[in-house]
Amino acid sequence: MSVSFVDLFPDQGRPDPPRSHLLRRLRVLRISVTDLCNFRCRYCMPPEGVAKIRHGELPGLEELGDLAAWLTAHTNIEKIKLTGGEPLLRPGLGHLVASLTSLAAVREVSLTTNGSLLPQMAWSLRAAGLARVNISLDSLDEERFAEVTRGGRLKNTLAGIEAARQADLQPIKLNSVLRRSTWQREVPDLLDYAAENGLEIRFIELMRTGTERTWCESEFVSMGEVRSELGLEIQAPAVDELAAAPARRTSVNWHGCNVVVGWIAPRSHPFCGRCERLRMDARGHLRRCLMDPQLLDLPELMRRIGPSAAWERTQSYLAGKTPPRKMDSALAMNRIGG
Ligand code: 5AD
Ligand code: SF4
Repeated sequence: MSVSFVDLFPDQGRPDPPRSHLLRRLRVLRISVTDLCNFRCRYCMPPEGVAKIRHGELPGLEELGDLAAWLTAHTNIEKIKLTGGEPLLRPGLGHLVASLTSLAAVREVSLTTNGSLLPQMAWSLRAAGLARVNISLDSLDEERFAEVTRGGRLKNTLAGIEAARQADLQPIKLNSVLRRSTWQREVPDLLDYAAENGLEIRFIELMRTGTERTWCESEFVSMGEVRSELGLEIQAPAVDELAAAPARRTSVNWHGCNVVVGWIAPRSHPFCGRCERLRMDARGHLRRCLMDPQLLDLPELMRRIGPSAAWERTQSYLAGKTPPRKMDSALAMNRIGG
C-alpha cells in the first residue's frame, strides 16, 4: 500500500519534546574538517571558491579529535560524521578516523564526500575504522554534473562510488539535491542508477544559504511535488529510523524494483524540533544549529578557562538550541558543513 507524506512525517504539528531533554537528546556530532573543496557546487560554494585558510592555520586534527572526545564524554553523542568542504582534502584524516573510532561512546564514524578522491582513499579509511560514506550525486549526465558542481567530473565520482563499494564502506547513501529546472531528468536517472546498483538514495530539498540565494529560491522544488508528478509509489516507510533522523526512509517501487529512498525535506517538513545534532567546524567552533549564526569557540575557551568551566559555558550555549524560524542562512554551506 502506498503511503502519504503525512504518514511519513507523523510528528509534524505535534509539540516538540521537552527542552529539559535537550542535552540528553544529542546523539550526532558533525565535524567539518575543512572549508576547502575541489568542487564548487552552486548551492554550497561561491563561484570564486573560498578565502584560502591553509590547513596549517586551523587547529590540528588531533585537537579537533580531543574536542570531539571531550564532547562525547559529556553528552550522549554516539555517531560522528565527518564533513567539509570536502573532508578527503584534509591530510591526516585517517588518523582522526582511527582516534574517533577508538572512543568508547562512539558507535559509528562516517563521512560525507563528493567521492572524487575515494578511489585513492577508500581502503585506507576503511582500515582506519570508517564505517560508511554518503556520496553527493546530483546528476548522471556529465554536462549537468559539471554545471551544478562547477567543473566536477562525473566519472571521478562514479569511480569513488565503486571504490567505496569495493572497500565495503556500506551502506553507501547517495545524496541528491532537488532542483526545479532539472529534477524531471535527474530523479528518474538517479532512481534507475540506485536500482541497478542496489544503492540507497536520498533526495534533499534545496535550502537557501549564503551563496546564490536568488538561484536557491527559484530552484526550490518540494519533495511532495516530485513525488506526485512522478506518481511514485511509496510502498512502506521504514519504521526502524529514529523520529529525529532528518531522512525519512521509504521503499519506492521503481519499475518493479524496490529502491530505498530517503526524503530530506527541511523546507516542506522541517524536522528541527527533534534535532539531535551538533556541529563543529574546522576552527573547533561549536554550532548548535545549521541556521544559527552564534558559535562557541571551543579552542579559545579551553585555553582561557579550562575544560570544566568550558563545559559550563557549553551547556548554557546548548540550552539556546532552538528550531530556526526559517531554513535560511547567510553563511555558505562549506563553512558550516552541510
Ligand atoms: N541545500 C540542500 N543541501 C545542501 N547541501 C549543501 N548545500 C545545500 C543546500 N543549500 C548538502 C548536499 C551536499 C552535501 C555536502 O550537503 O547534499 O551533497
Ligand atoms: Fe564541495 Fe560538497 Fe560543497 Fe559541492 S556540496 S562544493 S562537493 S562541499
